[in-house]
Formats: sequence, structure tokens, C-alpha cells
Amino acid sequence: MAKKYIIAFDQGTTSTRAIIFNNLGEICGIAQKELTQHYPKSGWVEHDPLEILAHQQQVFSEVLEKSDISIEEIASIGITNQRETTVVWDKNTGEPIYNAIVWLDKRTTKICESLKSQGLNDYVSENTGLVIDSYFSGTKLKWILDNVEGAREKAINGDLLFGTIDTWLIWKFTNGTKHVTDHSNASRTMLYNIINLEWDDKLLAAMNIPTSMLPTVQYSSSDFGAIHYKGYDIPIYGVAGDQQASLFGQGGYKSGIAKNTYGTGCFMLLNTGKKPYNSKNGLLTTLCCSLPEDNIKYALEGSIFVGGASIQWLRDKLQVIENSSETEDICNTTTTADDLYVVPAFAGLGAPHWDMEAKGAIYGLTLDSGKNEIIKATVEALAYQTRDVLEAMVEDSGKQMKELKVDGGASANNYLMQFQSDILNVAVDRPKMLEVTALGAAFLAGIKAGIWTKKDIAKIRAVDTVFVPKIKEYERSRKYIGWQQAVARTKTANK
Ligand code: G3P
Repeated sequence: MAKKYIIAFDQGTTSTRAIIFNNLGEICGIAQKELTQHYPKSGWVEHDPLEILAHQQQVFSEVLEKSDISIEEIASIGITNQRETTVVWDKNTGEPIYNAIVWLDKRTTKICESLKSQGLNDYVSENTGLVIDSYFSGTKLKWILDNVEGAREKAINGDLLFGTIDTWLIWKFTNGTKHVTDHSNASRTMLYNIINLEWDDKLLAAMNIPTSMLPTVQYSSSDFGAIHYKGYDIPIYGVAGDQQASLFGQGGYKSGIAKNTYGTGCFMLLNTGKKPYNSKNGLLTTLCCSLPEDNIKYALEGSIFVGGASIQWLRDKLQVIENSSETEDICNTTTTADDLYVVPAFAGLGAPHWDMEAKGAIYGLTLDSGKNEIIKATVEALAYQTRDVLEAMVEDSGKQMKELKVDGGASANNYLMQFQSDILNVAVDRPKMLEVTALGAAFLAGIKAGIWTKKDIAKIRAVDTVFVPKIKEYERSRKYIGWQQAVARTKTANK
């Protein structure tokens, strides 16, 4: 039987999915489960690693059972995952010693302050491409070793393993035989040196983390072991952090291509090619998906912590909408309230501001401001935050951006995409198939399986709409200056 299908596992912050793609990159089956979010204290966010594993197993079986595709036709599996989220488990029992600490979790702010006071700012930025922030895995791992009873001792004895979600799933799926990750995930730990492509001894020492806990780092398109399912071994041939996977799925293996994904957060990445750029404007440098036959490529990244999560906030906390898809009509039928800005710093401010302590705020309320005006301002905040990042990217790379490729749930909102193009003064190119993150992981797995070459990616990508700017420069500047003032008032450094 011809092996012409790929399954992508997409383990995101709020959901776990399995998607079957055919060799034309079309979706042939999808199964999904929501993931429980745990908030044990203010600013803390955790997931249960065993729930993640169980959900991934369930959606894997479900997607196969629902389709008429036989297991023998599956060429390989690609895994893409929420990045930075940290799991530590006992390699003898296979049990996590603590919940997964999620990328949004802010509990390690003090550890970060201490690293900064040791004068590590420049070292971290030059060698890991990151800024010292609780966002990344390193300080989360240190927190677990420092706070879970007996953890450090076990780690020193070589009994504990660390992994991001890809590593955890693969270790479980391969019955503990593979402790691995890929370049794109490793580059988000603040422990990996993106210049010499090795775990960084100086940072491991600064955070007191034993090397024995760390996974082996591989190319994103390579052999990560196999999943045994109903008598068959299906190889895992692709692994990547979700944002780098979507850059790859958008054709961003070439330098000069930029994408923005509107997920829980918003993540804009620009492939800058073989040379890492050291950002002067609060952006990160990160590793792109890697292929053994290619040079290692770097990307500039602007990570916005709260994107689609602010729409969930409207739905779940303010309860002013029932469904996120309602926001498009509301935006289209509500007159923009001048000077009304929602700054969704619910998890601090990420790029380019990096203010871990900032909290969300609404400015410019008047007696006319109702729920629809607040909804519209919340949607528009996604576009303003994206402009903050794009400005920094243009400044760092010296390249004027003409076009931005988009994907992720909120990119389906036509009002938001038009407003995005208006505020950026850049064309916004939305593909027909918005599951680009999963497709990127499928491409990595399919390339290794011999189904595609990377050149096929551009052929497979079909454009849905290109939004072009429609407002005048005067109006664009007026709106954006108002946003910048709102952000300045939100930053803790200015209080
Ligand atoms: O860096 C965090 C990012 O990987 C999370 O992505 O899609 O789960 O919001 P997502």
C-alpha cells in the first residue's frame, strides 16, 4: 500500500490535535481536545503532562478511526508543540514530578532578576538569542529543582529528565527509548547556545542544572523514533516548535519571509538566513526548522503573550460574547471609539517591551463606551501589538517589509486582517488553509519520508485573500500614536 499520508500532532496551549494530510497538503481528517488550564496562584499557569499525553493518544486514535485511511498508508508523523513549557519527570517511574509549567507562567520573575544581577544580560542575548525572562524554560526548570522536594538530589543522581512538550511526548511514545528535541525547541530554553549549537555550560552552571537532564538535539526533519500502534511502527520524522513550524508551512524556509500567527499569543517571525541578528529593539533571535541538507537558519521573532487569549477573556471572564467568531460583525457594525485602547498585558508585556510586571489596562473610557466598543478595541489591540513588533523588525533587519503572511484562528476575522493591513501599511496575505502550523510539522515529516521536497511547500500554499492598506497615513499615525501612549502608561517602568 502506498504511504501517502502524514499525521501532524499539534499540541498547543489550549488544545491538542491530530490532523491527517494527504500528499497535496490537504486535510483528510482532524480530531481535537481542549486542554485543562490550571491557575494555582496569580500569574501561575500549569498543565497536566499526563493529560496532554492522554489527549494526544486519544486524538491520534480518533482521527484514524474516523477516516477511511489505513495505518499502513501513514508515511510518518510530525509533532509541533507549544514552546518553552517545561516538564520534568522521573526516568525510572515515567511520572512527572510536577505539573508542566506553561510558557505564560510568571513565577520565576525573581530568578530572572537574580540572573540579571549576575550580569548575564548580554551573554544570554548573544548566545541564546533571548532576553532573560520567565517566558523561557531555563528558569522554570530551575524553579522545579529548587521547589519540589527531593528534586535536586534526584537530578544530581541522574534520575530526572527535562523536556519541552515534544520531548515529553516522544519519550512516552517511544517507551522511554528516545530523549530528544529539535533545534527550534531547544532554542527556546535559554539553555541552548544558538551559535555553537550546544547546551550552554555557563548558563547551566548559573541555573545549577545538571547536563544529564537534557535531551539530545536533532534536525527538525530527522528520525525521532517510532510510535507503535496496532502492530505497526510509524516513524516520527518531524519535530518543531509551533511558531517555527508555521513559518516553515508558510514557505519561510527562505530568508526574507515573515509570518504572524494569531493564536493564544501572536508570534511574528522573519527568516533572516544564515546569520543571526542581535536585536537592538527587544526582539528575539531563534532557530528556524532545520533540515540536515541545509544550513542552519535564524529568525527574528516578536512574541506577543496575549493575542487570541484576549478574545477568550471577552468570552469567559467579561462574558460579553459567546463565541469569538461574533467579534467580526461587532467590529464591522460598531463605530470606532476615538482614543479607546485596551492594552491586554494580562501576562506582562512581551516583545518589544519586556515588562514582566505590567498588567492589562483600558484607557479612554467615556459614557459612550459600551461592551461593543471594548470588544472592538480588544480586537484592534492584536493589530497594534503586531505593529510594535513589525517596527522593531524593520529597524533590526534594515529591511522594509512589503507583505506579511498570516495564519492562526483569529486570522479568519476579515475585520482584523483589514485593520492589520491598514495599521501596518503592509499587504496581509492569508492562505486558504489556516492550519499552517500543523502543515509545517507535516512538511518536516514528509520531507524526511520522501513525499515532498521543501520546494513543494510554495506550490502547495494557495492564497485566500490579500488585504491591502485602505486608510490615509494621517489616520494611521493618529491611531498608532494613541496606542503608543496607552502602552507607555501601562509599562511599570513609567509608574
Ligand atoms: O511560545 C509560545 C507558543 O509556542 C505558544 O503557541 O499556539 O500554543 O499559542 P500557541
